[in-house]
Amino acid sequence: MQSLESIRSRIRKSYLMDEREIVHDLVLQSEVTPESRKRFSDRAATLVNSIREAGQPGFMEVFLNEYGLSTNEGIALMCLAEALLRVPDTETIDNLVSDKIAPSSWGRHLGQSSSSLVNASTWALMLTGKVLENDDASSTMASVLHTAMKRLGEPVIRAAVRRIMKEMGNQFILGETIEQASIRAKTLRQKGYTCSWDMLGEAAVTVKDAAKYFEAYRAAIEFLATRADSDRVRDNPGISVKLSALHPRYEVSQKSRAARELTDRVLALALQAKQARIGLNIDAEEADRLDLSLDIIESVLRDRRLAAWDGFGVVIQAYGKGASHVIDWIWSLAVDLDRRLMVRLVKGAYWDTEIKRAQVSGLRDFPVFTQKSATDVSWICCAKKLLGMTDRIYPQFATHNAHTVSAVLESASDYSRFEFQRLYGMGEVLHRLVHEKHGTRCRIYAPVGAHRDLLAYLVRRLLENGANSSFVNQIVDQKIPVDDIVADPFEKSGNESLKDSTSIRNPKNLYSPERRNSRGWDISNEDDLTEIDQTRMPFKSRQWNVSPRTACESKGGNPHPVFNPANPRDRVGSVVYATREDTVQAIGSAQTWVHESADNRARILNRAADLYEESFGELFAALTRETGKNLIDAIAELREAVDFLRYYAARIGPLEKRTARGLVACISPWNFPLAIFTGQVAAALAAGNGVLAKPAEPASIISAIAVRLLHQAGVPEPVLQLLPGQGSVIGAALSEDPRIEGICFTGSTATAQTINRAMAEQGSPSAALIAETGGINAMVVDSTALPEQAVKDIMASSFQSAGQRCSALRVLYLQQDCASEFMKMLLGAMDEITVGDPWLFSTDVGPVIHADARDAINRHIDTARREGRLIKQLEAPGHGNFVGPSVIRVNGIEDIEAEVFGPCAACRHFRGA
Ligand code: FAD
Ligand code: 2OP
Repeated sequence: MQSLESIRSRIRKSYLMDEREIVHDLVLQSEVTPESRKRFSDRAATLVNSIREAGQPGFMEVFLNEYGLSTNEGIALMCLAEALLRVPDTETIDNLVSDKIAPSSWGRHLGQSSSSLVNASTWALMLTGKVLENDDASSTMASVLHTAMKRLGEPVIRAAVRRIMKEMGNQFILGETIEQASIRAKTLRQKGYTCSWDMLGEAAVTVKDAAKYFEAYRAAIEFLATRADSDRVRDNPGISVKLSALHPRYEVSQKSRAARELTDRVLALALQAKQARIGLNIDAEEADRLDLSLDIIESVLRDRRLAAWDGFGVVIQAYGKGASHVIDWIWSLAVDLDRRLMVRLVKGAYWDTEIKRAQVSGLRDFPVFTQKSATDVSWICCAKKLLGMTDRIYPQFATHNAHTVSAVLESASDYSRFEFQRLYGMGEVLHRLVHEKHGTRCRIYAPVGAHRDLLAYLVRRLLENGANSSFVNQIVDQKIPVDDIVADPFEKSGNESLKDSTSIRNPKNLYSPERRNSRGWDISNEDDLTEIDQTRMPFKSRQWNVSPRTACESKGGNPHPVFNPANPRDRVGSVVYATREDTVQAIGSAQTWVHESADNRARILNRAADLYEESFGELFAALTRETGKNLIDAIAELREAVDFLRYYAARIGPLEKRTARGLVACISPWNFPLAIFTGQVAAALAAGNGVLAKPAEPASIISAIAVRLLHQAGVPEPVLQLLPGQGSVIGAALSEDPRIEGICFTGSTATAQTINRAMAEQGSPSAALIAETGGINAMVVDSTALPEQAVKDIMASSFQSAGQRCSALRVLYLQQDCASEFMKMLLGAMDEITVGDPWLFSTDVGPVIHADARDAINRHIDTARREGRLIKQLEAPGHGNFVGPSVIRVNGIEDIEAEVFGPCAACRHFRGA
């Protein structure tokens, strides 16, 4: 037997592996023969025919078939379903309804559906749309209705749309309370089904929410104990738990805390479930949490008090590339602990999120399959594997797809050793037919709780089932031939793997054919974190010494020591500042490189991009030690810089038609010390200009490393010279010099104006100034916003990079009607922020750039405190340049005279629409 650790390492390795390779291995190992594949499809065809003949598709199936995501109306409905039920005030409801309903063509769906409920909903939506339309209703009938509806007024519309949305939600909820749910569960029980209750609520952002969800699970188990009348877990109801509901920081960056606290909470629930003789399942969530979830599962299971209980369940997502290894791990763990465990096999409910996240993060591949058939094949191969492990594992096959069900029925020899599972409100006919014919057990995953907490779940269902490729969507569409629905996924995945899918772009090809995407690091992956840690370690105590012009080691002069803003005892290096004379001399010796061919310039910039990526250890270390960037910021910074280099290299072709201006000065800020510095320099170099780069004083070392790499890539030294030093000396010398033909500047408006004046008075008459300056950004949050999402965005925008971004949120406008609850969530979420040493992966907010900045921000917060406007400020370490993130109250944006460049957000409430 392989060690648990070696299997875990295989799970990590397969996380972003090539899809074709994985599918190939799965198929090979599962030994599913062409004959069995044919039997799967034949049996599935019979089932599909029976389902269609039964003629009782569920509301959701029919609804989603009519309003799939390929229609504007379907998308409008999904947006409404996501938001409407949480909006407290009528004005916002009316605005939302009018925004989403009026522009769509409901009339074309009229009478199209086989369900009278769906048709009735369509009527209501169409009439609502007609009333809300501004232009005249076109037909006489519509015109009469229009007038009638107008008279009935908006309350009717509101009520009608609310009713439809509530109905949609009701399809998925067993009950809003335990009492309601127990009534429906009883009816299901009489029909031969068991349930696994899912207490709604996920992605807690505050400790209070997590405690509330924990209590809901606890109370539910207590209740289910009274309904567990069998000695066998499999015959009793069960519970499904989402770890994200139980902890506000269920993330790899907070690994040790999250693992410890979640283990305690899950263990408490598991012990209670054991006592109650019911099963407890850990739902699978986003792929970046898989590794951490397995740590927690293992530590819970190692508790001896759980011995002899076979009710602990793990969910495995077949769309995940490591699914088959996760099964091996579970089985080995069960053997190791001498236990029996349950495994629910699903395809996976977060597919869209996974695809988007991998693309945004620039991962080298996706953690999930990109072909639906690959997911189906993986599920079937995993199912076969599970059927061979029933000595230790009780398989729970969760699907609504008749082909997938058929594959199980064909592959299993003993139907008593597993159960099927379906979601409440879905797959009713399929599972009824199978249950009636084969006597197989079927458990229903049954959400219990308030509509407000259903929304994330509901959106996943709509996304998943609104897709054309989904089985649920296809079965009710009589136009789709049975043979297509039950087509062999093994054959499909073979064919599909031959063609390079262009619809879902691999993260590295996101910008192809123009340029390669920058490399991303996956901070949820232990291997990536280890690689980062090992590569940056040699630079942890390195001293960089910088001298002007060529960015080589210091050659004397008067070095200015550089200290780490997080830790003043850490001397990062020293910088010899350029003088006015150095600047004048540098301009005199500077050269353009227009004589170099466009291809060569592009090649050199691309080479520099590669060198930047290769030097990630040094750059991450310098970004953290010189400017206090934490890992997330450092990764984003490097990626943006690399992309600038590749972007401008790619633009050289089009730029070639323009001539270089001559010598260009690039004056950059410290808040994006690598990205903005590189962007300016790369743009100027791409066009063939000679560049004099003046970095911000607190970012001299980072810019020197960048210049060193650009030289190494082949940019000649006279074409790119570094002039570290004071703005008042070097910036002034550059702006006044008539040999400079252009200045790229990013920084404050005041400095931009100083440069502009100097250029106008003494510079070249043809010189251009490109200035990017700051401003004050506001965010408006009304009652339609999902608070959890808005809170996350507010925190990222206000406090990430210690608020030192031009794009940072400075003023939050919050709708009065939802402000009280919203602020509780925001302030609670703030309590979870870690302020401290940015070298640590767990740090969310590092120091601000220097002591002067710290003192200025603190003065601003102190004023608010004195005036009774400070809503909250977090503690910050006493040493170093830390400022605790804060929220203050203002009357409006007009109260903010100047941008406060730190982790401080202002807030005011506004009255609804
Ligand atoms: P099908 O229509 O056959 O499959 C749809 C699935 O295929 C999609 O959901 C998606 O995952 C996948 N897919 C779609 N397009 C592509 C593509 N281009 N490339 C690759 N794959 C694609 N899900 C979880 O994530 N965690 C859980 O804990 C969980 N618990 C569940 C419990 C039960 C009882 C059930 C029934 C489902 C559970 N699910 C869970 C949801 C489950 O993942 C979805 O219901 C399932 O994906 C639908 O599969 P299907 O076989 O019914 O439908
Ligand atoms: C989900 O919440 C069912 O766990 C699955 O989407």
